[in-house]
Amino acid sequence: MARIGVTGMGTMGAALALNIADNGFDVAVHNRSPERTQAVVDGAGALAARLHPSDNLEDFVASLEVPRAVLIMVNAGAAVESVITSLIPLLDRDDLIVDAGNADFNDTRRRADLVESKGLRYLGVGVSGGEEGARFGPSIMVGGTREAYAPIKDIVEAIAAKFEGDPCADFLGADGAGHFVKTVHNGIEYADMQLIAEAYGLLRADGRDMDQMADLFAVWNAGALQSYLIEITAEILKAKDRETGKPVVDVILDQAGQKGTGRWTVIEALKLGQSATAIESAVAARSWSALRDTRAAAEATYPRDASAARISDADMEAALLASRIITYGQGMALLDAASTNFEWSLDLARVAEIWRAGCIIRSSLLDDISAAIRKGLPHGQLILAPSFVTLLEDNVPALRRVVIAAMAEGQSVPALAASLSFFDTIRRARGTTDLIQAQRDFFGRHGFQRLDRTGDGFHGPWAD
Ligand code: 6PG
Repeated sequence: MARIGVTGMGTMGAALALNIADNGFDVAVHNRSPERTQAVVDGAGALAARLHPSDNLEDFVASLEVPRAVLIMVNAGAAVESVITSLIPLLDRDDLIVDAGNADFNDTRRRADLVESKGLRYLGVGVSGGEEGARFGPSIMVGGTREAYAPIKDIVEAIAAKFEGDPCADFLGADGAGHFVKTVHNGIEYADMQLIAEAYGLLRADGRDMDQMADLFAVWNAGALQSYLIEITAEILKAKDRETGKPVVDVILDQAGQKGTGRWTVIEALKLGQSATAIESAVAARSWSALRDTRAAAEATYPRDASAARISDADMEAALLASRIITYGQGMALLDAASTNFEWSLDLARVAEIWRAGCIIRSSLLDDISAAIRKGLPHGQLILAPSFVTLLEDNVPALRRVVIAAMAEGQSVPALAASLSFFDTIRRARGTTDLIQAQRDFFGRHGFQRLDRTGDGFHGPWAD
C-alpha cells in the first residue's frame, strides 16, 4: 500500500512522485494514459520499487493507505475539475484530495467547498521550482485546513527544498490561500523576468554580444542580485543553438507564452484595489510580444532611434536591484490586502522564508525581506522598512538614470519605468488626486472630503 498517490504523470507530476519515492515513501502513480505511467516507472531505476502504478483510478485509489491522500498534478482548469469529479465517488470520509498544480484561487475555494461538502478533505497547494524543483526540492505553499494538511505534512516537508535546514513548505491559510500565494509568486516571477529582459534589451542595443552579457549577469549573480533567475539568464545567454551554432536566444521567436498566473495576479490586485504595476507591465509586455506583425508594422511606421542608451553596468545592476525590491514590495502588499480581505491571517514573513529556496524567484533578498517583515513593515510597505530604505536610497538614483536614459533613446522599459513611477507616487504626501476629486464632483456631484474639516460630501462652487 502507498502513503500517497499522484495522478498526472506529466513533467511535474512524475518529478514529484519520484521525489516522494526518493524520500522513502511508497507512492501510487496514475495517468490517464497508462503508457505514460509505465514510462515513468521504467525510467525510475531503483526508485521503481516504491512506485505503485495503476492503469485506472479505481485501482489507484485502492492501492492507497486509509485515510487516502491523492495529489492531482494535471493542467489547470477542466482537467482538474474532471479528476476531482471522478475521484469523489471513489473516496471515503476524511480522504484527502490535493490540487498541486497552478490554480486560480477562486476555483480552489469553490472546489474546496464542493469536496468538503462530500465529507472529504481538500488542499490547494502551490508548488514552485519547475521540473528540477519538483524532483529535488520545490517550495510548497499549502492552503486549506490544518486537519487536512496534518496527515501529509511529513511527506511535504521531506520533499521540499531546505533553506539552512528549514523546509521551504508550510501551511499558509484557509481555502485558496496556498494557490493565491503561488499566483503572486508567479506574478513576481513575471515582473522579475521582465526587468531582466529589459536590462538585456538595453545591453543588446548597446552592442554587447551574448557572451559579454552572460559574463555580466554571472558577475551580478555573485552580488546583491544573486538569484535563480539572474543565474539562469547568464547560462541561457551563453548557450549556443545545436543546429546553427548561433546564440540560442538569437534563434528564439520573441513572443512570450503565458498560462495565466501573471494575469490572475493583476486581476486579483485590481479587484482588491491594489497596485501591482511592475507585474502588470510584465503581463502587458508578454501580451504586446504576441503582436509580432503589429510590432513589425509599427517599427516600419515609426523607425526606432538607433542610438543606444548610455548606461553604466553599475547603474544597470543597481536599477535591477531597486526595481526588484519595489516589485517584491508590491507583491507583499497584495498578499497583505488579500489576507485581510479573505481572512487568511497570512504570515508574510513565513511566505518570504519558504521562497528562499526551491522556487523560481528565490534570491538572496528574500532572507532580508523575511527579517524586515518580522520586525513589522511600516504601513505594510517593504519600501518603508528601515533596512530597505537604505538600499533604495542607494539604488533608486541609478534606476532613475537608467529609465531616463532608456526613454530618451526610445528604448522599451515598461517594468523598470512602472516600478520607478510607483516609488515616486507613493513617496508624495500631496498627490494630484485633489484635482481628480474636483473633476468628479464637477461632472457628477460625487462630493469630496476637505483637508480643513471632517466629514465628506462637500461640493465645489460649481454646485450652485
Ligand atoms: C514555478 C513556475 C511554474 C511555471 C509557470 C510558468 O513556480 O515553478 O512559475 O509555475 O513554469 O506556470 O508560467 P507561464 O507559462 O505563465 O510563464
